[in-house]
Amino acid sequence: MVMETIDFRTLSPQDKYKYLSSSVTPRPIALVSTVDGARNVNLSPFSFFNVFSANPPILVFSPLRSIRTNETKHTLDNVHEVREAVVNLVSHDMVEQTSLSSGSYERDVDEFAKSGFTAQASELVTPPRVKEAPVSFECEVKEVVALGNEGGSGNLVICEVKMMHVQKRILKDGLPDPFLLDTVARLGGDWYCRASGDSLFEVEKPIGKSGLGVDSMPESVRNSDVLSGNDLGKLGGIERFPSKLDQKDFLKEYVYAVEEIMNLAEAGKRLRKLHTWAKELIAERKIQEAWSILLWADTLGE
Ligand SMILES: Cc1cc2nc3c(=O)[nH]c(=O)nc-3n(C[C@H](O)[C@H](O)[C@H](O)COP(=O)(O)O)c2cc1C
Repeated sequence: MVMETIDFRTLSPQDKYKYLSSSVTPRPIALVSTVDGARNVNLSPFSFFNVFSANPPILVFSPLRSIRTNETKHTLDNVHEVREAVVNLVSHDMVEQTSLSSGSYERDVDEFAKSGFTAQASELVTPPRVKEAPVSFECEVKEVVALGNEGGSGNLVICEVKMMHVQKRILKDGLPDPFLLDTVARLGGDWYCRASGDSLFEVEKPIGKSGLGVDSMPESVRNSDVLSGNDLGKLGGIERFPSKLDQKDFLKEYVYAVEEIMNLAEAGKRLRKLHTWAKELIAERKIQEAWSILLWADTLGE
């Protein structure tokens, strides 16, 4: 793989921002409502955002100082004045209005009005929540950590969740369902992505407490030019290799396919054929069966 190496010590603040924000993707979006000391409401999106602790339940977002002017964001000024925030999540049907709310309006301008979102009174905190949001978290701001004083410097707004509101329509077995939540995330430039439909997939946890790992696999498997990194990841998730007995049982069941490969394929090409077969079994999540083939192929010494 040909790599380009970028030395951050020599970059302008703009370039640091560009490289980071177009690489660390996709980033979830917090649509944050806050109030200033005079109770003027502010609503702005932040994609430098995530969850960092379950107990205490902590969300963190980061309003940067303007790279151009070094000015602070109104959201940051607000949380210094009133240590409360509502973090609303953004579904696909909210994305254009969310973008509209990011305009640089004057401090006393309420972006709920500008974006057309509906302000709904919160239960515990002063800033209202966004009625259209699938999930909203009412938070107390525990701490604000300034990461610098220059343009582009972030400010970690550390929020403790006190109450969560979730639209019932997105719940399945009591939890937000990824297909119904339909959240969007931010990438580089003007790009967003949507967590829904075909883009969702499951990755099973390793079967045992700890998988055997790639380092304990035979070299013919580790260095296979048929198996991908994802295949090795799935193969490494089992706790132990199938026993000789299991292998025999499996190969007996597939005896015709095994014989066909042994008879038809030229020596030197059998390993490849067997690995291709194992790959198909891996795709069907038949990991023990795939291992039976791979371990047997390993004994061919090709
Ligand atoms: C989807 C999205 C994500 C954003 N993420 C951030 C962010 O993480 N940090 C930041 O400082 N600005 C971010 N911005 C820009 C701010 O939303 C924008 O500067 C906004 O005007 C700040 O409003 P305020 O000054 O009223 O707080 C983002 C904009 C959009 C549209």
